[in-house]
Amino acid sequence: MQRDSWGSRIGFVLAAAGSAIGLGTVWRLPYVAGEQGGGLFFFIFIILLMTVGTSLLLAEFVLGRSTKEGAIEAYRKIAPKGQWHLIGIIGMVASFLLLSFYSVVGGWITTYFVRSFSGNVTNPPDGDHFALFTQITSNPWEIGIAHLAFMVMTILVVQMGIKKGIEKASVYMMPALFVIFLILMIRSLTLDGASEGVLYFLQPDFSAVTGETFLFALGQAFFSLSLGVSVMVTYSSYLDRNTSLPSSAWSVVLLSVLIAIMAGLAIFPAIYAFDMQPDQGPMLIFTVIPAVFGQLAFGEVFFFLFMLLMLFATLTSAFSLLEIIVTPLIRGREHLRKRMTWIVGLLIFAMGIPSNLSYSLLSETYFFGMIFFDAVDYLVSNILLPLGALLISLFVAYKMKKRDLKDELLRGSNFRQGFYSIWLLMIRFITPLCIIVVFFYLIFG
Ligand code: TRP
Repeated sequence: MQRDSWGSRIGFVLAAAGSAIGLGTVWRLPYVAGEQGGGLFFFIFIILLMTVGTSLLLAEFVLGRSTKEGAIEAYRKIAPKGQWHLIGIIGMVASFLLLSFYSVVGGWITTYFVRSFSGNVTNPPDGDHFALFTQITSNPWEIGIAHLAFMVMTILVVQMGIKKGIEKASVYMMPALFVIFLILMIRSLTLDGASEGVLYFLQPDFSAVTGETFLFALGQAFFSLSLGVSVMVTYSSYLDRNTSLPSSAWSVVLLSVLIAIMAGLAIFPAIYAFDMQPDQGPMLIFTVIPAVFGQLAFGEVFFFLFMLLMLFATLTSAFSLLEIIVTPLIRGREHLRKRMTWIVGLLIFAMGIPSNLSYSLLSETYFFGMIFFDAVDYLVSNILLPLGALLISLFVAYKMKKRDLKDELLRGSNFRQGFYSIWLLMIRFITPLCIIVVFFYLIFG
């Protein structure tokens, strides 16, 4: 049987953007921006995204498409000697762990989505949204079933393959996500008192910008583009030879920035218009947002739309996290896909159970001083992702032949030698250096 492939360039771009645009981009990014200097943070973030972020994204694209292999074989094909394929294994482990807790949040979103039909999320009986969140997340059965449901949705799409599964789902979900954000953004911006919310996250605040801001922005740039775990290597390995990699990368980056800004413009004006505060951390989408919608005419409808959008954003990221593990296991033998996808997906679900229970039965059990959920998050976000990003950058820069790099980067595109030279400079020196700095900051800062 033949190895699967994308049906179109736009399908590939939407799937890659779907991977990038997830909880980190639509929720964490606007929130961090608000704390770290608003518009100025965004400006720094966008610059870093378009330089360091894009160069690493292109490195993953080049490696994936030139080898047409997944996380393990791609490294072996370039460097048969030595243990370079461990980079792919780190990526698979990181993705496994990342999806194990990402799917827990996916489960929360699923429950809220289902409950949004009844309307009692935006207006809980006793008016206390935080109590409702605690009540929901501390009921292991409801939240366990929602967690499983989220994983099953992910598995059902990935087991259909690249073209018929991930591409097809992304081609519907991503435009829908865009349209829903547009609706919510317009609703939010036309509320009385919306301008304060716009100022909160877009007004440049020079005093809030420190050295730390740059590190935050850089870490967020890598996270937002799903870099460091070979997801983009995997996705580009299913791409045909003549698609321009630089313009695909720009499209992914621009879509991510656009959606992040729309997310900020949909969320913060509404919060300020109702005199609430956005400083609730990750709980905000489950507590403050329902409370805001509760005060709005047709609030249940808007809340339903908001949860649908969160569900789409989270699902399209989850597809890529599962696919990166499935691809090396099946190695083009598509008849194994269904079985492998179910096995891996259910193992990830099992791994996620202690993370899920961190909010109920295991809320008093600590690992390195953190609840299980936070400990896994720490291991993945602060150690495995930066380590993977560093190794991928060095591998592509120093292990691949210059001629192959140039040929793969420029094929099918209008970019010329100059673009290649700058890119090479980036992945050889600047990108690795930046990652090392962030790495030390995350661990020792
Ligand atoms: N980019 C995703 C987000 O913003 C999260 C993420 C980080 C991710 N690394 C990843 C998703 C690797 C898929 C693969 O939410």
